[in-house]
Amino acid sequence: MRLRVTTDLPWDVVADVLVIPIVGDPAFDGPLGEIDRRASGELRALVAFGELRSKRFTSSIAASGGVRAARLLTVSAGPADGIDRELVARLGSAAMHRLAGRHVKSVAVWLEPLAASLEGGAEVVAGLVARGIVEGSFDPRSLYADDVPTVPPVIDELVLVGPADADTAALTTSAERGVIFGEGANLARSLANRSANDVSPEVLAEEAYTLARQHGLWIDVIGPDKATELGMGMFMAVGKGSDNPPRMIVLRSGKKGELDAAGRHLALIGKGVCFDSGGISIKPADRMEEMKMDKTGACTVIAAIATVARLAPGTPLLAVAPAVENMPGPHSARPGDIVKALNGKLVDIINTDAEGRLILGDAMTYAERLGATHLVDVATLTGAVSRALGDLVTGAFGTDPAFTGEVLAAGARAGERYWQMPLVDEYLTEMESWYGDIINSGSGEGGLVKSGLFLREFATVPWVHLDIAGTAYYRKAKPWAARGASGASHATLVELALAGAKPA
Ligand code: BES
Ligand code: MN
Ligand code: ZN
Repeated sequence: MRLRVTTDLPWDVVADVLVIPIVGDPAFDGPLGEIDRRASGELRALVAFGELRSKRFTSSIAASGGVRAARLLTVSAGPADGIDRELVARLGSAAMHRLAGRHVKSVAVWLEPLAASLEGGAEVVAGLVARGIVEGSFDPRSLYADDVPTVPPVIDELVLVGPADADTAALTTSAERGVIFGEGANLARSLANRSANDVSPEVLAEEAYTLARQHGLWIDVIGPDKATELGMGMFMAVGKGSDNPPRMIVLRSGKKGELDAAGRHLALIGKGVCFDSGGISIKPADRMEEMKMDKTGACTVIAAIATVARLAPGTPLLAVAPAVENMPGPHSARPGDIVKALNGKLVDIINTDAEGRLILGDAMTYAERLGATHLVDVATLTGAVSRALGDLVTGAFGTDPAFTGEVLAAGARAGERYWQMPLVDEYLTEMESWYGDIINSGSGEGGLVKSGLFLREFATVPWVHLDIAGTAYYRKAKPWAARGASGASHATLVELALAGAKPA
């Protein structure tokens, strides 16, 4: 996709479609009035008809009359005071979704109405809209089937129409960065959405090898023999249950142990359960097919380190993705099994369906052994987080207020929503094991908090846990996204890592 930034007037821009953000109730004064006049009053007529509305994410397609773009697409942003980064990116995506199945090769987006309402103005808007347009082109129905008629169009050119006084070079840089963010999110989504008969732990590792070669990343993949030898008892307890052998995938940019510009050796750790049947504690059949996406955390960290390598090569960063299949079988771990974690703790597996925390715990210890000074894990860890926060807000836990603040600030820059959950020390007493140090699944209430408490046992450095079980994929299409993997947290992790990039 070519990218072009212009400060031409919106009605002078040549494209198949001109996207017109509608903020609040359209007043049709200023440039919007001029667009309407040139379109022979079509937009006003659509308002009168009730077709063009101010409700967020509603949209309408109009003939363009004397506007040079072939068609107009209005996308409503809702009230000006509700415009934030998340919304701006999603409006770009919503435009692409509205064009699903249409014959469109070039899209122009008029930035000014959004730039006037967002801190950072046109430069920030350009990056977010570019990212949104790219993310809006993702539809997992194209993963296995060819020529699906109802998916968003693949466009050759994106034109960003900046205000007259815009710094086009700055807008271009921001938009290029946005495209790379969007491509990274889509990479994570494609991997996450692929089915379990396609993406086994070995295949995920192969994908990581390919990315490592492409982007000059160091890679090491640990198989079952080495993992057993190292003492990754929790990782192997889950991994040995499937005929598809587990893989601990480790990627690194920069040098071993090297600190980044923020004084950190940051490690991103992602849950890679290629299929979560529950194991011996087997899940009910209802919606079990969604559990092919239980590897989303791993896909997200693998994509994030590739994105960082594209934007700021050499930035010190680790990505650790424990990949397994959680299956019932003659080699599976059983409830009541006691295993030794890599950090030496004795873990009592009460429920084999609480497998994410087992593989993550060993991955966290391993990341610290590789020199990590700060850990962020991202995981589809609990059904409880989606009951609590739904599919729009990711649950966050952290041990170090300063570092947690950095992660949440990266989330704000990325336009992604988080809500912090408490680590309630008292609940640890409910996780005591008769035979070992801790059980893997807390009885009784507070399961979400207990999942965080369990993971905390495996961190000795500042650590943040992001539970994306609610946000990783949409069960129904949204105005801005297809049903399926959402790309949640990719942008946050990239922003967090880039805070440690060497100043250009
Ligand atoms: N992968 C699931 C969590 C999940 C559930 C993700 C629904 C997305 C949608 C996880 O491994 C799991 O099974 N968690 C259990 C934990 C329990 C056994 C302590 C859960 O949430 O029920
Ligand atoms: Mn599970
Ligand atoms: Zn799981």
